[in-house]
Amino acid sequence: MRSSDLLCHSTPRLELLADLIQEYNTVADIGCDHAYLSILLARRGKRVIASDVAQGPHDKARENIARFSMESSIELRLGDGLLTLERGEAEAIVIAGMGGLLIADIISAGKHLLTESTRLFLQPMRADEDLRAFLYANGFEILSEHLVREDRRIYTVLEVQFGKTDRFSVLDCAFSPALRKSRPPLFEDYFNWKKRILAGIIAETAQAEKSGLQQEFAEKMQAYEAFEKGEII
Ligand SMILES: C[S@@+](CC[C@H](N)C(=O)[O-])C[C@H]1O[C@@H](n2cnc3c(N)ncnc32)[C@H](O)[C@@H]1O
Repeated sequence: MRSSDLLCHSTPRLELLADLIQEYNTVADIGCDHAYLSILLARRGKRVIASDVAQGPHDKARENIARFSMESSIELRLGDGLLTLERGEAEAIVIAGMGGLLIADIISAGKHLLTESTRLFLQPMRADEDLRAFLYANGFEILSEHLVREDRRIYTVLEVQFGKTDRFSVLDCAFSPALRKSRPPLFEDYFNWKKRILAGIIAETAQAEKSGLQQEFAEKMQAYEAFEKGEII
């Protein structure tokens, strides 16, 4: 296979991650799976630590790294989350393509391995609101948030560092203050997509007569609508 064949595996989501990490020299790709992102990063001159908890993805990663002759730039490790790293070993850490709750668990278990200057790039496939809530409640700050469309979905990437968040609202969990401030071009589509999902959940819980949940989701919808009207920024 020619190295240009890797272009087949480069997607807008992975390209955005690689672009955001551009300024860091040593990067850890946690949950690397096939190692496509690691290979993209190595091609941009980064030293990469690629790690995965499962033997199958680890083997696949080793195969791909060898296929594209990246052994000198990518160090492959097998193990759980951040526990494969020494403290402060990577300037930037990517945890992408997993559920938000799993990402939160990985950070929680390896928080002691992060330093004040470690940058995290987190890309949840679902449960993004749980992930933001976890970050706010555990001493992290969302510095910026970026959106990318791939196929028919919009994905978010959170750039995170240790920081201070005093209080946070349901709206902050759905759309970080950083995202509301920067309002990238896909913001409106992202907002409307999440609002449609919330409306669907409200309709479902109304049928099931789960009154506690109804209240919670209705309050969330009120916050969405207040934001839309400009009553909250
Ligand atoms: C869907 S793949 C995502 C691959 C890649 N990061 C991406 O964004 O395309 C998720 C990978 O995370 C790995 N994984 C799940 N839990 C993990 C953990 N606790 N530590 C490291 N890797 C984990 C899985 O084995 C799997 O290879």
